[in-house]
Amino acid sequence: MKLAFLGLGVMGYPMAGHLAKAGHDVTVYNRTAAKAESWIKEHGGQRAATPAEATRDAAIVLMCVGNDDDVRAVATGPEGAFAGMKRGAILVDHTTASAELARALEGEAKGKGLGFLDAPVSGGQAGAQNGRLTIMVGGEEASFRIAEPVMRHYGLAVTLMGSAGSGQLTKMVNQIIIAGTVQGIAEGLNFAQRAGLDGKKVAEVIGKGAAQSWQLDNRYATMLEGKFEFGFAVNWMRKDLGICLAEARRNNSALPVAALVDQFYQHLQDRGGGRWDTSSLIHLLAKP
Ligand SMILES: NC(=O)c1ccc[n+]([C@@H]2O[C@H](COP(=O)([O-])OP(=O)(O)OC[C@H]3O[C@@H](n4cnc5c(N)ncnc54)[C@H](OP(=O)(O)O)[C@@H]3O)[C@@H](O)[C@H]2O)c1
Repeated sequence: MKLAFLGLGVMGYPMAGHLAKAGHDVTVYNRTAAKAESWIKEHGGQRAATPAEATRDAAIVLMCVGNDDDVRAVATGPEGAFAGMKRGAILVDHTTASAELARALEGEAKGKGLGFLDAPVSGGQAGAQNGRLTIMVGGEEASFRIAEPVMRHYGLAVTLMGSAGSGQLTKMVNQIIIAGTVQGIAEGLNFAQRAGLDGKKVAEVIGKGAAQSWQLDNRYATMLEGKFEFGFAVNWMRKDLGICLAEARRNNSALPVAALVDQFYQHLQDRGGGRWDTSSLIHLLAKP
């Protein structure tokens, strides 16, 4: 299939790589051209100078950029993806962005005879590299049916959640739960260390019981060691929690813990930890 992939960052680069490895003809675009250059050296395919040029012949266009503004910059405008796509083509946006934007872009796509799916992902850099992402999709079923087998090349679970924006709303639920979970683990492990317990032994025992979680399994060791220079950045999490808090104001849901944890992440940014992994919440407790 002729595909285009826009945005070769930490997530996009390996995701696009899975499509090439599966035998698809992939044209890539990246704002910083050097990344696109190294991608085609590694995977073949073509690179284009603008999103419009990259998407011209593609049946499906996939993208993964930063935030709402970045999605707009890449999808719309004279050099954007929509300007290049042929009628019937589908734009799949893997960026974590607002549900409002997803609905607006679906409307714009429809007006041009195009399909649109919001399809944020969970599973981090490792999930993108080993092709085991969870993908939460919003949009029309007809577009989903066409795009799903392509997303399966890097998605272990690919689920249509409902109409446009439902993928982003589901990702918000994911981030709300993660925020509270990571803070709980940070408090528990900090308590364990101050109580004189062996933190590793504690995490391993309770990880086999009701306190088990992905975050505990995958982050306890580095949290205990105070290592945070990897993973899902605090800056990204603040972007995501900002989206959640704005949506909660609209749908009248209370997010007291997520709002508090967002402030803790702001303290971490003030400490220079904007690029640290989200598990760095324990830093505030270990070094108040
Ligand atoms: N990293 C994770 O663990 C993770 C997990 C789940 C979801 N996500 C979400 O996935 C998305 C991408 O994350 P990432 O970690 O891959 O980020 P990243 O490494 O910073 O990559 C961002 C990509 O978007 C491009 N980009 C950003 N703004 C742009 C603009 N205005 N115009 C054109 N291109 C633009 C960047 O191009 P340049 O190379 O030119 O900068 C880069 O290719 C985010 O929404 C993030 O929240 C990330």
